[in-house]
Amino acid sequence: MSEPYSSAMPSSDHPAARSSEEQRRYNASYDEQPEAYESLRAEGHMTRRRVEYFEDVLRRVPGTVLEIGSGTGTLLRRLAGSHPERRFTGVEPLPNYVDFANARSKDLGLANVVFEVGTGEALPAGAADGSVDLIVSVDALHHVEDLDAVIAEASRVAAPGARWRAMEPNRLHPYVFLWHTVTAGERTFDAGDFVRRAQAAGWRLAGKDRLYIFPSTVQQVPPWAERLERRLERVPFLSGGLALDLVKE
Ligand SMILES: C[S@@+](CC[C@H](N)C(=O)[O-])C[C@H]1O[C@@H](n2cnc3c(N)ncnc32)[C@H](O)[C@@H]1O
Repeated sequence: MSEPYSSAMPSSDHPAARSSEEQRRYNASYDEQPEAYESLRAEGHMTRRRVEYFEDVLRRVPGTVLEIGSGTGTLLRRLAGSHPERRFTGVEPLPNYVDFANARSKDLGLANVVFEVGTGEALPAGAADGSVDLIVSVDALHHVEDLDAVIAEASRVAAPGARWRAMEPNRLHPYVFLWHTVTAGERTFDAGDFVRRAQAAGWRLAGKDRLYIFPSTVQQVPPWAERLERRLERVPFLSGGLALDLVKE
């Protein structure tokens, strides 16, 4: 964002805040457990690779960064910590996640990152037209109710030539497919459908990567295993994640 958000409204009063019954749909069984979700996302081999992967796009795309579906804020806090000169905004529908994310940022003394309650379909009021240079989203798009509305909002806030790096679970992987099919609050992510919708809204697919062989619970792997992972993950049905790079024309 070109300007920091002002958060006059307490997150629990925001229209995106829902009753706890409804909230359960946002992030499967973790909606009411920001600490538990954070500990799942903050450490481990997959987390390290995820941060590295987003650091890479940050090096190539200057300017302001918006994360859609920022969860407990793990990724943006890491990126904000290593790029104090840049401004980061996370948008997340769960008010308890937003409060958690902002509290952690404050504890860390990070002045360049703020988390706001909102959805990808309806970004907070402070998200000005054409103000974002880089949009990132991680495992969020398969949760949204209205993908076209998210793409329309992303298009509205994107500056000309902006980049959108979206990482989602790879449904071609049998375990990922089954997990997202049987788990309440999850959905499979149809990458082809997303790309077609984004192209119709003026985005161009500039790149596609497959990542991860080891599950998120693996803390560390020896160098030979990571080299093997980087080879095997290119096989479409072996990688746990899929990342798409879009450019706003
Ligand atoms: C699997 S979590 C990923 C969180 C975070 N990106 C991460 O990688 O740790 C999915 C997140 O998307 C959020 N979400 C669900 N529906 C959303 C929507 N319509 N717009 C934006 N975020 C949404 C959920 O509340 C949840 O925090």
